[in-house]
Amino acid sequence: MKTVSFSFESAVITEQQREQISRAMSILNAGGVVAFPTETVYGLGADVTNLEAISSIYRIKQRPMNHPLIVHIADFSCLSEWAQAIPDTALKLAARFWPGPLTLILKRSRCVPDIVTGGQDTVGIRVPGHPIALALLRSLGRGRALAAPSANRFGRISPTTAAHVQKELGTEISMILDGGSCAVGLESTIVSFVGDNPKVLRPGGIALAELESVLGASISMMHRSDSSTIRVPGSLSSHYAPTTPLKLCATEQLWQYAQKMTNQQLKTMVITWSPIQLPLQQNEYLQHCSMPNDPESYGRELYAILHQFDQAEFDYLLVEMVPDHPNWVAIEDRLQRASHRAS
Ligand code: TXA
Ligand code: MG
Repeated sequence: MKTVSFSFESAVITEQQREQISRAMSILNAGGVVAFPTETVYGLGADVTNLEAISSIYRIKQRPMNHPLIVHIADFSCLSEWAQAIPDTALKLAARFWPGPLTLILKRSRCVPDIVTGGQDTVGIRVPGHPIALALLRSLGRGRALAAPSANRFGRISPTTAAHVQKELGTEISMILDGGSCAVGLESTIVSFVGDNPKVLRPGGIALAELESVLGASISMMHRSDSSTIRVPGSLSSHYAPTTPLKLCATEQLWQYAQKMTNQQLKTMVITWSPIQLPLQQNEYLQHCSMPNDPESYGRELYAILHQFDQAEFDYLLVEMVPDHPNWVAIEDRLQRASHRAS
């Protein structure tokens, strides 16, 4: 996936959004939680240092307490308040990609409470690249930050619109800041600086090749099966999952599978990206959704269609395997996890 270029600084915040941001500030100051847009997915935010507010995040998400949260900061210059012993390589990546879809795992400073890191001595930090998220973080002021996981229940699909958050968590949170559809649509790339060499823990909005070109060295990626000892919920085999069973299928086998499903009268949505023509008529059991064939657009739309098809009561989502190419790794990763339950 190539990096989408954003122009956050120039984005205009409307008067109405300003008012909403100041309402959100009052809620955060009173120890509440607020859902807010980022360029990747919507987050569920609370003041990092307010332990009760952070507990509410875990409760609302139904997330185990030992799974750490990402600390969102207003800009690069705040990094040293929340992390220490920061390697030059991490600084290089932050300087190049922040604000943007990159999370750094670093040794935490004493300002980060245990509840945020799941008791680990490391912390995930990012500067999000959405004008509303940045305005919110700037109004918090120095010495404060927002801990924010994706605004969905544990293990489910991340929200990329305010309506997705409303549907899943609307009754439990007092405010959702609406910033439209997320421009990236997949979660941030997470790079850990804890071992000897930087390592990608979760592929995401920044392509590996872009990280490598800034680092001037190749970077390794943690395999999904390596993750059992590290508490990275996004790295559980089953995650980012729709409730409808999802099956990944090679292009050559799509037709055969689709036919098998419909013969069994299973209502099936076939999701493709390549220009293949399925020799099947769409009918009451078989629908076809054609996705973009470039990874940026596919990534932007993926969660929205999964949310949409989850509500349409299909028996199966049959998804064409995406290209085996570095620019598609984040999408491939999310599809593999989403399909885990069905395979
Ligand atoms: O794009 C994103 O990263 C979004 C937006 C809202 O910023 N946030 C997000 O948060 O995806 P969450 O909590 O849904 O996923 C964050 C991932 C989790 O897998 C978590 O375990 C991992 O980051 N993480 C956080 N702190 C960590 C740490 N200290 N060590 C290892 N993994 C960590
Ligand atoms: Mg999440």
